[in-house]
Amino acid sequence: MSRPNWQLIIVTFLLYQRSISGQDTPSKRIVKGFPAEPKQFPYQVYILNLEDGRSLFGCGAVIISNRIVLTAAHCISKEMNTMEIYFGTVDKSNKREVGQQRLIVKAKNIYVHPEYDDNQLINDIALIRLPADLLFDEYIQPAKLPDADELYENESAVVSGWGQTIFSGPQSNHLQYYNVTVFSNEKCKNLMIAVSKIFPTSFICLKPSQSTPCHGDSGGPLAIRNEDGSHTLLGLTSFGKPGCPTNSPGVYTRVSSFLKWIKQYE
Ligand SMILES: *[C@@H]1O[C@H](CO)[C@@H](O)[C@H](O)[C@H]1NC(C)=O
Ligand SMILES: *[C@@H]1O[C@H](CO)[C@@H](O)[C@H](O)[C@H]1NC(C)=O
Repeated sequence: MSRPNWQLIIVTFLLYQRSISGQDTPSKRIVKGFPAEPKQFPYQVYILNLEDGRSLFGCGAVIISNRIVLTAAHCISKEMNTMEIYFGTVDKSNKREVGQQRLIVKAKNIYVHPEYDDNQLINDIALIRLPADLLFDEYIQPAKLPDADELYENESAVVSGWGQTIFSGPQSNHLQYYNVTVFSNEKCKNLMIAVSKIFPTSFICLKPSQSTPCHGDSGGPLAIRNEDGSHTLLGLTSFGKPGCPTNSPGVYTRVSSFLKWIKQYE
């Protein structure tokens, strides 16, 4: 009986979108975020689960090479038979957006981590292998993988996504972002104890601030900016407190914990 919030949490970060798809309005996403500029997050993509052509729900995802896109495992619907991937987009509602490219990938090219546990949300990572090489340009670029031995605690970073800008509010189409600081797992664990009894090193956490990820941001990136303009991917949006309250941590899948798993698909 003491397994209360997990399903609720997963649902809050993800599945809400299903019930309101088709009602998108051009407002902000990510609670208290800022609108992204074209080319600002060229590694960010949008993925849409389709069942026989019917859209189920969408999520964020991240390009890490010309063949590989990473997302959260809880972003992969069991009913999905194809996934539509939007590259190079900021306004995902605009098919004619300059730089935007869409691609459909079959379910057999999508790999959910074999030890993904949807009750505890551990190993919340999935990999999409593209059927052809992506061509990079100013709108479409990979993020680098993180260093296996670094914790990145206190680093300045950035999160982005098309998730809700108000809890339970309508979804919008323009990519939002905000700057974050990477939090220590120890402190995060203490603040999240009510929603997550376990707190493995394969979690990486956002320091509480005025903004927060919310429904629809799942699978999207936590990244750091490098001096040469490239980005390094640290995490994938996984879960948070129900209701997307600000001033509380967001929990991400720590990508550096999965480098070996990712490598086998290169
Ligand atoms: C991160 O910042 C906190 C608070 O300023 C400090 O106590 C901690 O030692 C820092 N951690 C690292 C790894 O620098
Ligand atoms: C986020 O940080 C970057 C780099 O420091 C800066 O250029 C940008 O203006 C910041 N954005 C916001 C909304 O604070």
